[in-house]
Amino acid sequence: MADVSLIVLAAGMGSRMNSDLPKVLHPLGGVPMLHHAMSAGRALDPARTVVVAGHGADRVTKAALAFDPDATVVLQEEQLGTAHAVAQARFDAPGDAVVLYGDTPFITAETLEAMREARSRHAVVVLGFHGEGRYGRLIMDGDELERIVEFKDATEDQRAITLCNSGVVCCDARLLFDLVSAVENDNAAGEYYLPDIVEIARARGLSAGVVTCDISETLGINTRAELAAAESVFQARARAEALENGVTLTAPDTVFFALDTVIGRDAVVGPNVVFGPGVTVESEAEIRAFCHLEGCHISRGATVGPFARLRPGAELAEDVHVGNFVEIKNAVLDEGVKVGHLTYIGDAHVGEKTNIGAGTITCNYDGVNKHRTEIGPRAFIGSNTMLVAPVKIGRDAMTGSGSIITEDVPAEALAIGRARQVTKPGMAVRLMDLFLAKKKG
Ligand code: UD1
Ligand code: CA
Repeated sequence: MADVSLIVLAAGMGSRMNSDLPKVLHPLGGVPMLHHAMSAGRALDPARTVVVAGHGADRVTKAALAFDPDATVVLQEEQLGTAHAVAQARFDAPGDAVVLYGDTPFITAETLEAMREARSRHAVVVLGFHGEGRYGRLIMDGDELERIVEFKDATEDQRAITLCNSGVVCCDARLLFDLVSAVENDNAAGEYYLPDIVEIARARGLSAGVVTCDISETLGINTRAELAAAESVFQARARAEALENGVTLTAPDTVFFALDTVIGRDAVVGPNVVFGPGVTVESEAEIRAFCHLEGCHISRGATVGPFARLRPGAELAEDVHVGNFVEIKNAVLDEGVKVGHLTYIGDAHVGEKTNIGAGTITCNYDGVNKHRTEIGPRAFIGSNTMLVAPVKIGRDAMTGSGSIITEDVPAEALAIGRARQVTKPGMAVRLMDLFLAKKKG
């Protein structure tokens, strides 16, 4: 198929969110809402993506580029309507353009494919759905779409039509810009309506048609209540998809996914696990109950949790074990590393088969800078070791329990850095007697 370009409308204020954050940046599935439409569009392998920003344009630009560094962001200074928004995206290139809304996250790639396919029969293809409410209505003439009437401008009879406009349009890109430039604003809202391109195309003897999808795909988000409802729709979909892909979810309703979560077949996820953005879990890994994961990679056969927190840059190789109350950040754990209990590993590299004892902490932050800890393979870090970074522990080395390690430890050495024990016979009993006597006065 010829090239396709995406135009994502995201300039609206979203005043009903009652928020300082632009509507399209409110998080859904752990990522800005805008990413969902961009993600559906990505499946078409677009030659270009143009995002139309307006309210909060700086922040919207940042979010758009975070999803797709090659996206173009254009500014619509005044929000004069959806046709005006599309006109701001103007480019000159062959192939189709698909117009998506940043606040309509659930459009599927299959539906967009169906629209592109329908372009062989119609110059303009509109995505419709059966519903009610204040949507534009599609006025049909057999298989031809005659025009779209906005709810505000519709007669009682037109409002009774159940075929509604989703807003998504697919059309030859050059024709689209030509049509939007002919749109006028003599309507109830005084806005330039994108749906008016249908009537203009028909007047030019061009064909317009409709592809329909389920109403669940066209859910738009205008309020916090709708955002919360959309979150549960997203999670239900993500859970169903994970199960279908061969992931075991012990208690699916308690697991929360992000848009970009990737989990391999035969991985097991226990109850109450939260996946933030950027997590990949390979096959046969196990995430036990109450873990919080973000920006990390968990390799085949690794086990994590219960109650573990993996933060951005945590990279677990095969068969790594991370146990309860362990936090890992920006650290690579090579194959077979064991970090069983109550530990913080940050800004570190841990060599294969090294064992990290309970209560170990990489002291990576001096209040200004972060420093690295390098631990070689097959090392044994005694319980409650403080590794004061920057510091290196050699291969096959050991640290004594309770050590504060401030200097590098060579391979195969044992380092002990703690005060020597003093034992005073009978002293415990004498002390206790003293305390009791004091209390009595
Ligand atoms: C629009 C359609 C309506 C359809 C409905 C589906 C028009 C005129 N009407 O109505 O037929 O049933 O969507 O949800 O298109 N935007 C801009 N710049 C603007 C105006 C809007 O970027 O100047 C963006 C908004 O941020 C939003 C999208 O376009 O993401 C839709 O705009 P909105 O004002 O919500 O349109 P609706 O009134 O919902
Ligand atoms: Ca809307």
